Amino acid sequence: MATNPAPADERSRALADGHQIPVLGLGVWQVPDGPECVNAVRWALELGYRHVDTAQAYGNEESVGQALRDSGVPRDEVYITTKFYPGGKDPATEVEHSLRRLGLDYVDLYLVHWPQGGALWAWSGMQRAHERGHARSIGISNFNATELGALLEAATVPPAVNQLQLSPFEYRQALIEACEKRDVAVEAYSPLGTGRHLSHRAVHAVAQRVGRTPAQVLLRWGLQRGLIVLPKSTHRERIEENSQIFDFALSDQDVAELDACDGTAGTDRALERKWW
Ligand code: A2P
Repeated sequence: MATNPAPADERSRALADGHQIPVLGLGVWQVPDGPECVNAVRWALELGYRHVDTAQAYGNEESVGQALRDSGVPRDEVYITTKFYPGGKDPATEVEHSLRRLGLDYVDLYLVHWPQGGALWAWSGMQRAHERGHARSIGISNFNATELGALLEAATVPPAVNQLQLSPFEYRQALIEACEKRDVAVEAYSPLGTGRHLSHRAVHAVAQRVGRTPAQVLLRWGLQRGLIVLPKSTHRERIEENSQIFDFALSDQDVAELDACDGTAGTDRALERKWW
């Protein structure tokens, strides 16, 4: 049950392709397949989350599907994202494997996980997955502004989303603006800095001022910066805490203090170092 009732229109928004997306999702990166993942997703759904973000590379699509079935929440009320592992295969074939692991007929969103091998080669397969109805929306992740621009020139179906490592400490303002200017919604992974940012002085100062937790402050910053936030936790009480971000607001000063934590100098790069 949702513990923080908020108007439905604050909790979701429309993508450029017309589909609605909940602005809070549970991220399951680094959650092992099995009971830990099943529990985290089931708890999130019980606590009112309606969006789960997985990937082929995470190896836990089976558990996400299991939890969704266990939860009893109707399929059409939950937003499921998975990501194409860009190792050289065909995205349109690979999504069918994801669907089998998830036990679903379609995913809501299918992303190219990172632009390995270039920004363009995977996109025709992504568009085929979309045409076949296996992915309602398609998008990208870890694409910088140049890669996004090249893809937009070549695409028939433009990417609806770019999922990026974002937080006040990794603000990448020029990249966010490049996406927004082209009507590409921006999602934030690692919005808590994989936990590192929770103990930062500036975050604590704002948290104390607004009477909320550091995690809630970091996530609320994301919402007020127009981002879709995807915090990860495997603890029920933290999953609940991270969902209670619709019943307070940061002031302009709070947001500015958090903006000032940026260590990327407002870059349009998606990452400081590529891992591929
Ligand atoms: P755990 O999964 O053990 O709860 P990010 O979303 O930036 O990737 O951060 C995830 C990390 O932050 C995980 O280590 C997670 O730990 C931890 N975490 C998530 N939510 C909270 C919270 N509300 N309070 C403290 N730590 C949290």
